[in-house]
Amino acid sequence: MKNIISSSELSKEEVEKILERAKEMEEHCKKGTVPHLLKNKIVACIFFEPSTRTRLSFETASIKLGAGVISAENATVNSSSFKGETIEDTTRILSSYADIIVMRHPEAGSAKRAVSVSTKPIINAGDGANEHPSQALLDLYTIKKEKGRLDNLIIAFGGDLVHSRTLHSLVPLLLQYPNNTFYFISPLELALPREYIEDLKEKGATIKEMSSLKDGLKEADVLYMTRVQKERFNSDDDYDKVKDLFILKTKDLEEMKKDVIIMHPLPKINEIEKEIDDDPRAAYFRQAENGLYIRMALLVDVLGL
Ligand code: CP
Repeated sequence: MKNIISSSELSKEEVEKILERAKEMEEHCKKGTVPHLLKNKIVACIFFEPSTRTRLSFETASIKLGAGVISAENATVNSSSFKGETIEDTTRILSSYADIIVMRHPEAGSAKRAVSVSTKPIINAGDGANEHPSQALLDLYTIKKEKGRLDNLIIAFGGDLVHSRTLHSLVPLLLQYPNNTFYFISPLELALPREYIEDLKEKGATIKEMSSLKDGLKEADVLYMTRVQKERFNSDDDYDKVKDLFILKTKDLEEMKKDVIIMHPLPKINEIEKEIDDDPRAAYFRQAENGLYIRMALLVDVLGL
């Protein structure tokens, strides 16, 4: 039984297969020929944290493939978790109803806990600040589509890096491809922990750390902006101190490569000036659409279809 919990568990061969399958799904969606590969299957989407893209794209993906969907949004209060039920017990129940479980939870390691008792594939839709592998796969798909390659790239990550589960899942995937360089640009308070950087270096990553967005803009092939994640801070005061430190401005585009792509997992708040939305280099809405195709590929993949 296959689960999608951490991008580090995916081999390059598996990643390439998912990207290829997503391309087929995109073509099917555009031609209106999506095969009902999940007919008579049920997909359970249980989200203990808010979501627009991940939950609704998994549900859309399921419906397009012919599956039925059972869904618990705001599950912290709208499921029996509110009464104190454990992740394990909730998972046991869901795996007796559904064929695939898609779960988002605020606790790092929650997806692994679910796997330990599940009799059905689990897809981690985000476990706290830890990982978000389906987002990383759709990011990879977007980079390949927009840049034509996954190697020889300078990828600059900007903003709240310490809380970015997207970054934590995307970097290991990009490390599977040669000659990629990572710029990590953030204020000190939001920087990646030392041990995380050292671990990446040991794995062969080429890294530059910077504290000013301007320093990394010129050379980047991909600028990956992230939201300062208010929900992960201990207090509003701590959040207020850093929330406006990193904002990509329209005038910054003048310094950037003509063929750079600007990515963001979304939702974005104020970290990208809204006029940039209309610039063709802003890839984030196309990126979100790609989530549908990747999630269709993943649903099929975990069932071995
Ligand atoms: N990128 C992402 O996970 O978006 P949602 O929180 O809306 O699902």
